[in-house]
Amino acid sequence: IKKLAVLTSGGDSPGMNAAIRSVVRTCAYHKIECIAVYRGYEGLMEGDFKTMNARSVKDIINKGGTILKSARSDEFRTKEGRLKAFNKLNEANVDGLVVIGGDGTFTGALIFNQEYNFPVMGIPGTIDNDIFGTSHTLGFDTALNTVVEAIDKIRDTASSHNRLFFIEVMGRDVGHIALNTGIAGGAEEILIPEEDLGLDRLVDSLNRSKKSGKSSSIVIVAEGDKIGKNIFELKDYVDENMSGYDVRVSVLGHMQRGGSPSCFDRVLASRMGVKAVESLLEGESNFMVGLLNNKMELTPLEKAIKGKSKINLELLRVSDIMST
Ligand code: F6P
Repeated sequence: IKKLAVLTSGGDSPGMNAAIRSVVRTCAYHKIECIAVYRGYEGLMEGDFKTMNARSVKDIINKGGTILKSARSDEFRTKEGRLKAFNKLNEANVDGLVVIGGDGTFTGALIFNQEYNFPVMGIPGTIDNDIFGTSHTLGFDTALNTVVEAIDKIRDTASSHNRLFFIEVMGRDVGHIALNTGIAGGAEEILIPEEDLGLDRLVDSLNRSKKSGKSSSIVIVAEGDKIGKNIFELKDYVDENMSGYDVRVSVLGHMQRGGSPSCFDRVLASRMGVKAVESLLEGESNFMVGLLNNKMELTPLEKAIKGKSKINLELLRVSDIMST
């Protein structure tokens, strides 16, 4: 391999820039060329490339978002789209590709590899932590810290007014963000897609906490929760079925995806970039790099996409005990 390309695709996450920097600098270290691809697979099909050197990635390790921009591409899902991308990579003499993103990004890379036998390596970048083969995806830790900071602020006003707050957090179909920030933010209850608490148990729990002398409460609701009601309907339900609660809703939204990456995410991104480039140089392809037992490990892209990233059940129990 003499020339690599790197792109970011799907929802952005803090730490993507640190990963781009790591890929570019690892290429420079090993004296191979590196180009950046703008706007994910969209830019790949259009040949929106820029030659990078070690200095091109200065001052970005601390920045949120992605300097390469990101996109979700429909055209790359088609054979014609992928052929365009292959031709552009060939014209630019690129012989390996590092993709930073989530499962949609990896699915694209996997199909591309199967069609053209083009060497690809994935770096998991998403705040959701919903990828099998790594204990942490890039941006997850930063998002947790952002959410906890927001919960702390909401707690100030909740306790001043004796209010119950439902706070919705991101996470797509998994509850990693909700479960961790719920414990760290001292939530009364945490609603996650992996466990159906049920409305009755929620109401019981809120009643119990009221009786035990708590004057305000926080319930963290994962956006993918399956309690059967959205967060505004939950508020209405509590308003109608319980007395003595002044209920408010706060949906944290996209602020969870922004911000300067945490120390953890910067270190993780740097490690993942090195591992991704060096694995390609060693002839590996079609893997995702991940953190397992504090080591960089490779997981086949196919497994990373299909495997489930499981909730730590111990955390559920800890959360129950803490809300006593
Ligand atoms: O995958 C990251 C994520 O932020 C999810 O948590 C959320 O469900 C989704 O992306 C939001 O997507 P969009 O940016 O397209 O609104």
